[in-house]
Amino acid sequence: MLLINPAPDNARRAFLRSSAVLGSALLAAPALLTGPAAQAASPVAAPPTFARRTLGQGKAAMEVTALGFGCMGMSYHRGPVPDRQTMVRLLRKVAESGVTLFDTAEVYGPFINEELVGEALAPFKGKLHITTKFGFDIRDGKDRGLNSRPENIRKVAEASLKRLRVDSIDLFYQHRPDPKVPMEDVAGTVRDLIKAGKVKRFGLSEASADDIRKAHAVQPVTALQSEYSLMWREPETKVFPTLKELGIGFVPYSPVGRGYLTGMLNAQTNLYPGNDNRLGLPRFTPEALRANYPLVQALLDFGQARGLTPAQLSLAWLLARPEQVVSIPGTTKEAHFHENMAALAANIAPGAWKQLEASLDAITIVGGRYPPEQQDHSGD
Ligand SMILES: NC(=O)c1ccc[n+]([C@@H]2O[C@H](COP(=O)([O-])OP(=O)(O)OC[C@H]3O[C@@H](n4cnc5c(N)ncnc54)[C@H](OP(=O)(O)O)[C@@H]3O)[C@@H](O)[C@H]2O)c1
Repeated sequence: MLLINPAPDNARRAFLRSSAVLGSALLAAPALLTGPAAQAASPVAAPPTFARRTLGQGKAAMEVTALGFGCMGMSYHRGPVPDRQTMVRLLRKVAESGVTLFDTAEVYGPFINEELVGEALAPFKGKLHITTKFGFDIRDGKDRGLNSRPENIRKVAEASLKRLRVDSIDLFYQHRPDPKVPMEDVAGTVRDLIKAGKVKRFGLSEASADDIRKAHAVQPVTALQSEYSLMWREPETKVFPTLKELGIGFVPYSPVGRGYLTGMLNAQTNLYPGNDNRLGLPRFTPEALRANYPLVQALLDFGQARGLTPAQLSLAWLLARPEQVVSIPGTTKEAHFHENMAALAANIAPGAWKQLEASLDAITIVGGRYPPEQQDHSGD
């Protein structure tokens, strides 16, 4: 939960108008209304049909729903930690709705997010893809920097398997490249874990095109997970050509800009100092939040005419990318989850997207996404 002061009046009015038409968007996405969740069925009931995409190719391929779910904020870095059983119920509702891709990491908590996901999704064992990440040196419950040494990767795999209550990790990402460990050694270690049946697929996060190539040569990579949204489009030039050439999928994290692109945060927002890393991000200073508001306003204006909220637009834009793209929005609120999933029903002409992109390109974003010292090793 964030301690949020109301958005400016014009933004809130536009949001409420958009919400009023959300009902029709949901009707256009029957899976969201007719699935087992709507019938309060058992958590193991068959999920409804949902648009699917394939990340990676060949033996590395993984077919998942076109939108996944990011679990981090349910226990880490997105405000006061919500009641655990409420999060267990929400995760089960997400799975019942038909979503098959769930993302977590050892460092989220650390450990408690994997434990939450493991408990919540245990009734769906074998029916979902749960992805997690290694690559940090966690000692005495604290993140002490990077560690992708082979012995640590093996240790994390064993511990994550237990916490997630699975027999094999569906996709094991390196959370950040470790300058002390050659990418070939990392990929070789994951290859051995795959051979041993402990891991099914290999992924990278925030890796460069060069690192992706080195890793993929040793063990085919299923997906790269990096930040990508209407607010941060650098991957398009830096890594998309390589991903396309090698047939690797792309999983954008922070797809609604860590909340900013929903229009629900502004310069008056009080983020919770106990558990919210956004307080340390240059883009979340009051000055940056104020300076970047034209971006939110452009989304409100564009969405108003189309009956979509800024969050839905941000996700629909990612769904409209030509690459193998499956984003993982995170939320602690069931209402936000339904709002986000309704992005699947958005139908916006390519020309209109170009118009929106052009209007956003004209806005200079204030504040880096990470402080310089964290640029290479932040876990979220
Ligand atoms: N590989 C990496 O290094 C890395 C880094 C960061 C994140 N991730 C992954 O990506 C996932 C998502 O990232 P993220 O949490 O940073 O960013 P995000 O999904 O862009 O934003 C999440 C924030 O937006 C809010 N939100 C979501 N939908 C909303 C809606 N419809 N209306 C209003 N607010 C809404 C959530 O608050 P409420 O709870 O109030 O809805 C939450 O504070 C994480 O869970 C994690 O799995 C990976």
